Amino acid sequence: MKWNGLIIGALICTNLCFAGEMKLKITKSYLNFPVSQMVERKTMSFYLHDKLERSFVIRLSAEPEYWVFADVSEFKNKEIRIVYDGDSAALAKIQLTDEPIGSETMYKESNRPQLHFTTKRGWTNDPNGLIYYDGEYHLFYQHNPYEKEWENMHWGHAVSEDLIHWTELPTALYPDEQGRAFSGTAVIDYGNTSGFGSKKNPPMVAIYTADGIDRQVQCIAFSMDKGRTWTKYPGNPVLDTKENWNSRDTRDPKVFWYEPSERWIMVLNEKDGHSIYSSENLKTWNFESHIVGFWECPELFELSVDGNDDDKLWVMYGASGTYMLGNFDGKEFRPVTGKLACSFGAIYAGQTYNNIPATDGRRIQIGWDRIEHQGMPFKGQMSIPMELTLRTTPSGVRLFCNPIKELDDLQNELVVAAKDLSAEEANRLLNEYKDFETLRIKTTIRFTHSTPIGLDLYGQHIIDYDLNFNRINGFFYSQTDFESKEISTDILIDKTSIQVFFDDGGMSFCLQREPNKNNHQGFLFWGHLEIGVKELEVYTMKSIW
Ligand code: FRU
Repeated sequence: MKWNGLIIGALICTNLCFAGEMKLKITKSYLNFPVSQMVERKTMSFYLHDKLERSFVIRLSAEPEYWVFADVSEFKNKEIRIVYDGDSAALAKIQLTDEPIGSETMYKESNRPQLHFTTKRGWTNDPNGLIYYDGEYHLFYQHNPYEKEWENMHWGHAVSEDLIHWTELPTALYPDEQGRAFSGTAVIDYGNTSGFGSKKNPPMVAIYTADGIDRQVQCIAFSMDKGRTWTKYPGNPVLDTKENWNSRDTRDPKVFWYEPSERWIMVLNEKDGHSIYSSENLKTWNFESHIVGFWECPELFELSVDGNDDDKLWVMYGASGTYMLGNFDGKEFRPVTGKLACSFGAIYAGQTYNNIPATDGRRIQIGWDRIEHQGMPFKGQMSIPMELTLRTTPSGVRLFCNPIKELDDLQNELVVAAKDLSAEEANRLLNEYKDFETLRIKTTIRFTHSTPIGLDLYGQHIIDYDLNFNRINGFFYSQTDFESKEISTDILIDKTSIQVFFDDGGMSFCLQREPNKNNHQGFLFWGHLEIGVKELEVYTMKSIW
């Protein structure tokens, strides 16, 4: 390696930077990296006493578009060696700081969502390990801390006391020699079946996929400090099924405790659908059954029908939001319906919370909203947490999803409350708020014909409904009360996204907020033929940050 004579003034003068390599005494908690999407990804590795501690790819650039950071507090007062096989001039620009660069404006950036969780820096996709424990809701998530595109999967981590206000914590799981840390679950092992803790002090156990070069395997890790620090099980992987399925796609374990058989149940995406495995200790898994027709991020949970605890059904759910209802006996899921769906649009990979107290009893889901935030150093967002319920409709029992009631706490006072308006009157009232960054609008539209009706915001259809084609925003939807000639909506407008819940959760749709710059109309209720607005309620909203 060639000495390039650089002295890293911004770090400490004694840290010498060779081409592609530098030694650095960690005196502060954060290491900041200048990055640019214009530059190729190269591998960076951290060594402590010649032991490889972290390795990832990054687009380091001496002319950064934005900065990302790594929490390096675990190496405080130690000297690490950083090896980078890319631009050494850019390596010379990395900075140690007490707070990540950009902290002064964190969460106040121009395109930072104010109702949805987003990570401080980098890319996010699936929610992982959703679990409630000891007063905290944990949100782990697929995270690339080093750029705003998918790579280097880590488990990011945030906690909340109310599912609305989140605090981002340091990375929970790092990639390792088994592979990148792909999606999975967290459970509390109350019986200490894994032996990682005790019954008095039960471990939180994460079950996740390690995405290696030629295979995906299932691994476990445990935490004794409420998810803050994790120890990977030395016996990993606990499940490797590549040979059984002749497929490397075997991933995203969702695990829960099934009381009747006193076993852990894992639903796992494999090849052409979801497999079910069982275990007594989270370490040894037995294959039980398989169901075809899904891809990625399986879910399996039981729900009462119409709130009646004597009438329950199981829901087998996939990343696309499609599901089947059926029965489950601890080994096999037997469907009683075909494939159904209630969430559409930008949402993907929804997961539901484990360990919600029985006194609460709700089934709460968070999904990944595939939403971009123009000009921001982060991408993707977590959906508004939603409560899932099963209700009887003329077409049979169906899944409904609605924003959790805690979202109401973000509402300021009601600024519009009106009934029985013409479309023109409703447009006039609503347009007072057309430039608000966040809003919640509840409305019921009345129509006279089975022809298209809707609501636009700056030329973009928020609602586009056609009772003749039975389509909302392009997707088939059959209303529960299709003779009502009314459609009710609960609309959440954030800086970069809009989510609409139709007919009290019978269908929901998430979309990128994309105003047409040439449109000056703002809000517009419209109909091919006569429409009216039966109800209109508008709330301005507080920020979750
Ligand atoms: C779904 C998914 C999962 C995988 C993860 C990787 O979005 O592809 O199947 O575990 O993302 O980030």
